[in-house]
Amino acid sequence: MSEHIREYLAEDVVDAKICEIGAKISADYAGKQVHLVSVLKGGAFFTCELAKRITVPVSIDFMSVSSYGKDTKSSGVVKIVKDLDESIKGKDVIVVEDIVDSGRTLSYLLAMLQDRGPKSLRLCTLLDKPDRRVVDVKVDYTGFQIPDEFVVGYGLDYDQKYRNLPYIGIVEFEE
Ligand code: IMP
Ligand code: MG
Repeated sequence: MSEHIREYLAEDVVDAKICEIGAKISADYAGKQVHLVSVLKGGAFFTCELAKRITVPVSIDFMSVSSYGKDTKSSGVVKIVKDLDESIKGKDVIVVEDIVDSGRTLSYLLAMLQDRGPKSLRLCTLLDKPDRRVVDVKVDYTGFQIPDEFVVGYGLDYDQKYRNLPYIGIVEFEE
């Protein structure tokens, strides 16, 4: 079986949306500095594009998490594969993600980051699949709400492929 990628959100549509979110964040954080916490690997592409559209001072840090084995997945426990380089204490933090699906990863991550004493903590995601939500997560900035389809591009992968696509595509399988 091989897969085919059908364009779903064109590059200019995604770029326009990122400009919009950047402008909103710039207005919301006027007079402040924002600290973007990018969730690797998928969130990295969106984070970099978003950072370029924010007009208040920006700092960026990266972290990488992975779900523990199957048994604990339902509990939403995630393992930190790469932690942040800097402390977030007292900072206005925005976690930047590629997609919120079940919400398990984010709900665990946000609780963990909240314990580290940021001044504020918000969540920004390029894509949201609300139909798939298992754990409630408050999303402050959303690019696009999408149906329950497996998507790739703009950082999102299928088996580590297609992260580099400049648009969002839906994976279709064919014989
Ligand atoms: P969850 O919200 O904890 O279920 O997990 C979200 C993570 O699952 C995302 O950060 C992605 O890495 C991955 N994921 C969920 N849906 C998709 C998709 O449609 N394409 C690619 N990765 C996805
Ligand atoms: Mg992710």
